[in-house]
Amino acid sequence: MRGNNDDNTPASVALQEGPPKLAPAELRAAQEETLAAPRRAYGLPAKVLFTTFDLLYGKKRTLSKFKVLELVARVPYQAWEQVAYIAITHVYDKTGLARRIAERVRESRHQQDNEQWHLLILEELIAESGKKENKIYFFWIPQAIALVYYAVSWLLFVLKPEESYKLNADFEDHAEHEYMGFVAENPHLETTPYDSDLTTVYGTYASQADLFRQIGHDERVHKLDSIERIEQARFS
Ligand SMILES: [Fe+2]
Ligand SMILES: [Fe+2]
Repeated sequence: MRGNNDDNTPASVALQEGPPKLAPAELRAAQEETLAAPRRAYGLPAKVLFTTFDLLYGKKRTLSKFKVLELVARVPYQAWEQVAYIAITHVYDKTGLARRIAERVRESRHQQDNEQWHLLILEELIAESGKKENKIYFFWIPQAIALVYYAVSWLLFVLKPEESYKLNADFEDHAEHEYMGFVAENPHLETTPYDSDLTTVYGTYASQADLFRQIGHDERVHKLDSIERIEQARFS
């Protein structure tokens, strides 16, 4: 059974562009690196967000909690894409600048798509597990959080873009540590196969442990991209 899969995805859909796909040994090494690394010193908005998640969904790492994280994870990229696209409307007569901003639009779209695959993978795994989720907690409240987070990311990006990148770096760092920790505390994932139509777009994995390590590594790449942008946050 494949949960909510009601699609007719063409078999020819190509593996999507995004962070590099790692081999099993590299995924294990990445997990060890993350677990040995300290977390970032999170800023206040990130702390408020993580505390809200813990209060609503508990401290325990679960697929349902990860799904909420992924729904929210896409939001800053959507906000950045929108602001950058509007910026092009104002500066298209400076073609060099407009092209550099267009490059940011492209980056944001790729990251947004990558988060979207994470979201769809989790949704499918939860459906397959047969778990029934409370609609208010796992649909409506996450929508509300995503709406507020979009507004915060959008406003920060317009007023102080470096703060928006910092907030996202915190979010991604948290996600990276949570996924790698989830694999460490669930050894049965090492022998749980991963089978899905989504392998056509997200790749094949020897086990669900490797799948989650890959997602954790994607979050690290997103984090590093945001950290790099903090220094050159404004369009120039
Ligand atoms: Fe993600
Ligand atoms: Fe991410």
